[in-house]
Amino acid sequence: MNFIPHSKPTLHTKDIAAVSAVLKSGALVQGKKVLEFEDKVSSYLGVKAGVAVNSGTSALHLALLALNIGPGDQVIVPSFVCTALLNAVSYTGASVRIVDVNEDDFNISSTQVKKNLNKKVKAIIVPHMFGCPADLKELSIFGVPIIEDCAQSIGADYGGRQAGSFGVLSICSFYATKVMTTGEGGMVLSNQTKLLDRIRDFRQYDHASNFQNRYNYKMTDFQAALGISQWQELPQFIKRRRQIAQIYDRAFADGDFIIPSKDNSRAPIYYRYVIKIKKRAKVFIEQLKKKGVGASQPVFKPLHHYVKGFQCPVADQLMDQGVSIPIYPDLSAHQIRQICSACM
Ligand SMILES: Cc1ncc(COP(=O)(O)O)c(C=O)c1O
Repeated sequence: MNFIPHSKPTLHTKDIAAVSAVLKSGALVQGKKVLEFEDKVSSYLGVKAGVAVNSGTSALHLALLALNIGPGDQVIVPSFVCTALLNAVSYTGASVRIVDVNEDDFNISSTQVKKNLNKKVKAIIVPHMFGCPADLKELSIFGVPIIEDCAQSIGADYGGRQAGSFGVLSICSFYATKVMTTGEGGMVLSNQTKLLDRIRDFRQYDHASNFQNRYNYKMTDFQAALGISQWQELPQFIKRRRQIAQIYDRAFADGDFIIPSKDNSRAPIYYRYVIKIKKRAKVFIEQLKKKGVGASQPVFKPLHHYVKGFQCPVADQLMDQGVSIPIYPDLSAHQIRQICSACM
């Protein structure tokens, strides 16, 4: 029995050919391919423009800098997410206010955001966790700039519009096992020219008339070529993820599991399929491993366990009970059956 990994990039021969063509051309650095990739992503999301960078974390950092966030400011982030958010805020010298998430969709809780607002809060980072859009309508009424974090949700739909087109800024990640990949990579997107210009300025350290902190956050043209090639398949990738999610929905409906919630106003893309179980997640994950299935806790460690002073009981409960099972386009029907029976 072959082991089924928890996550895996979907790469085809044409992806390799696209990267090879750029390597053969010798024009490796940020250039025409990056511009083409930025155009593709921004038109798909329905925003004015995108600025490609070398990771989702860099994208978050530049989004915060574009909003002039720095020492003395506060940024609201959810607890149940990876430490990229914590790092990006920390790079700027600002501090985080960590809030709890919803039990049903694992996204930042608007009720908790409301309780944490004060004059120092200059932005809210809103990740659409595991590919399911957060409640942007509720979150936008506070009048605080929203940075939509679409690292896990490119292609997800909220009320008929692309997630990523609501915030003053939005970011993507194209890390190897994301919905589509450039190996490592990211993008910041916005409708505001002024913010986009600032981000382009921060992205490269040289060729500026004055000195201020600038970064080397550029994406290479061969990464962008991979991104463009993967982009053509994005609709297929998402379709397949949704098909697999439907199979899981049916398989787990009657068991001892709580499956991802459904809501007609949102169309998730199932970057992850997270079930809640009654046993301890860690034990269940070990059992799956013995049956040849790679599963994982959806988050390594919630952010309020790194930074003292915040209580997030829902995130704690999800750490205890949440299990992410494999979901990616390359899974065969046989593997899907193996995953379902391993969970029962
Ligand atoms: C919600 C979220 N935001 C940001 C990031 C950071 O992206 P990257 O790994 O490309 O830096 C990740 C990465 O997993 C993520 O899941």
